[in-house]
Amino acid sequence: MTGRFYGVGVGPGDPELITVKAYRVLKETPVIAYPKKRRGSRSYALDIVETYVDANSKTLVGLVFPMTKDAAVLAREWDRTAQTVAEYLVRGEDVAFVTEGDPMLYSTFIHLARTVTDKIPDVTVTAIPGISSVTASASVLGLPLADGDETVAVVPATADRERLKTLLSHHDAVVLVKVAKVLDVVLEVLEDLGLTDRARVVTQATHQAERVWTRVEELSGAELPYLTLMVVKK
Ligand SMILES: C[S@@+](CC[C@H](N)C(=O)[O-])C[C@H]1O[C@@H](n2cnc3c(N)ncnc32)[C@H](O)[C@@H]1O
Repeated sequence: MTGRFYGVGVGPGDPELITVKAYRVLKETPVIAYPKKRRGSRSYALDIVETYVDANSKTLVGLVFPMTKDAAVLAREWDRTAQTVAEYLVRGEDVAFVTEGDPMLYSTFIHLARTVTDKIPDVTVTAIPGISSVTASASVLGLPLADGDETVAVVPATADRERLKTLLSHHDAVVLVKVAKVLDVVLEVLEDLGLTDRARVVTQATHQAERVWTRVEELSGAELPYLTLMVVKK
């Protein structure tokens, strides 16, 4: 029997914000795979898991994901990563890949599940939803994302300026993920649209290292961590 492949959302940072189902699956699954940075810093998702699971009782598999834009290198590296997971599954071992927030929202689990399924077409893939940084940040800020007829968009901040302007103009709330590297461009777009005072920035929402900025213009030129998003609410 092929093992089951789980994508387990472990929430935005506060270890109490994982679901009972995620907790059970993590307890029951012998192999826990996690995204690992090349330069050895700790895994945010694994830190949350280790609140509940004794790492010595599990097989822990750190997966390094390719960051290049070179299509050939990307394909080769993804294949290698999927192969690592597939080897446990074909031996009949269940594997839980843990991901911060929710596994079905801009998560490496999405592509990993696809590449693993290419290798093992009969594998059962199950996503365990997690509390996303998007909704967690709304709670942190005390800022409802949408009420009544309002609309909300979740947008990678790396989209081009015109697209950002269009989306910011058309929605009552916009959550910009992956904002850290393009913060100055986003600040210019907000200024052009007269929305600077409607924006808030959150880093590591709900984690003990969480930070919040309500005067985003002060962030011009700042270097913020990858786990940073911006909420713009009109
Ligand atoms: C690849 S996406 C993953 C989103 C994740 N699956 C989720 O549901 O929250 C990574 C981006 O999500 C945002 N993000 C994820 N976790 C965060 C957190 N705890 N606090 C603030 N932003 C976060 C950041 O914008 C980051 O660049």
